Amino acid sequence: MKVFLATAVFSLLLVALAQQPTEAPTGFDNQTNGFVDQATHASDQAAFEAVLQIPEGLGPLYNAQACRECHQNPTSGGQSQITELRVGHLDAAGHFQNPEIPIADGAEIIKGRSLVNDRAICPNASFPNTQIQERVPDSEKVRTLRTSLNLLGDGFVEAIADQTLIDLARDQCKKSKRKICGQVLYVPILEAPGKIGVGRFGWKDQHASLLSFAGDAYLNEMGITNKLFPTEVTLLCNTVREPNDVPGPNGLEHIDQFARFIRATEAPARDAEAAKTTSAQVGEEFFNKIGCATCHVATLATAPAGTVIDGGTLTIPAALGSKTIHPWGDFLLHDVGTGDGIVMAVTEHYGRTFRSEQWRSFSIVDLGSTQNKIRTAPLWGVRLRSRLMHDGASLTFRDAILRHQGEAAHVTREFTKMKPQEQEELFDFLRSL
Ligand code: HEC
Ligand code: HEC
Repeated sequence: MKVFLATAVFSLLLVALAQQPTEAPTGFDNQTNGFVDQATHASDQAAFEAVLQIPEGLGPLYNAQACRECHQNPTSGGQSQITELRVGHLDAAGHFQNPEIPIADGAEIIKGRSLVNDRAICPNASFPNTQIQERVPDSEKVRTLRTSLNLLGDGFVEAIADQTLIDLARDQCKKSKRKICGQVLYVPILEAPGKIGVGRFGWKDQHASLLSFAGDAYLNEMGITNKLFPTEVTLLCNTVREPNDVPGPNGLEHIDQFARFIRATEAPARDAEAAKTTSAQVGEEFFNKIGCATCHVATLATAPAGTVIDGGTLTIPAALGSKTIHPWGDFLLHDVGTGDGIVMAVTEHYGRTFRSEQWRSFSIVDLGSTQNKIRTAPLWGVRLRSRLMHDGASLTFRDAILRHQGEAAHVTREFTKMKPQEQEELFDFLRSL
């Protein structure tokens, strides 16, 4: 009996030790984090970088020819200054409505999305007389730009348990005496019809799954229809059969490769030299003390290996399980006074056949309440970003901080009370991230 007990206690201890979070690998060196082997990661990266043409399904409406065109700085999967245009208008009752954008001289109206594509494949040799360029009509008065986000390390973000984010929202609200209460938004997992998860990707937390996001991006950024988004935005000038994204020789579709590529990336690495300076360290203390860290949370841990996420479609492997990451973000939605007034377009992000009855626990009311909220921008890798905030309109750290109002107003006030020297130390900390 004693031996049995001792063995049981010992194995429990082993399990506990195995689940002690360890640091997630970081770097901008295109190495796999262990989710797949290096050769597989390199071939997935090649798919992410591949420049597509019309015979492969590009367009009819699109923004760019490769994922890498927007996710590239300092390496494939990083962020960039490339912005996208989103518009809409308010109806008579003051509710946000998606835009109606006439194309082909009014022959067709594009609806159901707030995104406006900046490029189109025609007129071309096959359709010399059809021009389908989207142009914003005067009526669409709500307008914003949104910059391209970093994807490096997002496999770890996907592996954070929903409950961790739910608890974080509750704790920050309690600790800040209800001044700062991040919103958790449940969103559909498209590859698991009927299942939802806590949104964490995109400026509006529109997706919880990287595969769902990849399907969304492939259609809406590049015009490539796929198993999750099988319907073209317009059939004008369209020549390639749907879905455009078909399994390759390896049996995988591109969106599977994109999701696997992102899942296997290392998290952004800090500037080790800058992080060692006294100035950055003092700056970090101010960052924590004045309340930046309430939303820009330094450390989060992923769920243990073996946990099933994304509506039952993904089991977290050892490479992603029980890892500590430093995103300096909470992945929750906040109103910091910068909100762009745009409610996420359900058809655009969840597909033409999306019916909310199928996702009974998905709430359109919750969605509406995010109109003026933005996800806390994770600050990992922020030293490499030249234009800040969702619209890229803030060019310096000072400008970005001073724009924080709403839930962050009292924190911004503390910042304005800091001595110039102390503010510089805070910036030195940001320059080390
Ligand atoms: C024309 C530029 C552009 C292209 C091309 C593009 N993206 Fe993006 N991507 C963006 C922008 C802008 C955002 C932020 C969108 C938003 O939330 O409004 C984004 C966000 C993302 C995110 C969310 C990241 C996070 O941490 O929140 C993922 C994942 C992503 N893109 C994957 C892809 C994949 C995969 C492709 C290729 C199929 C792709 N993107 C192509 C511009 C682009
Ligand atoms: C209430 C939550 C909250 C607090 C407190 C907060 N932030 Fe933010 N922060 C955000 C949100 C939300 C965004 C994105 C806003 C947008 O893009 O419109 C953001 C964006 C930023 C950005 C831009 C990053 C990028 O990639 O574009 C920086 C830099 C930043 N915050 C630094 C700080 C600092 C420094 C403090 C403390 C003085 C602070 N924040 C306090 C929520 C917060």
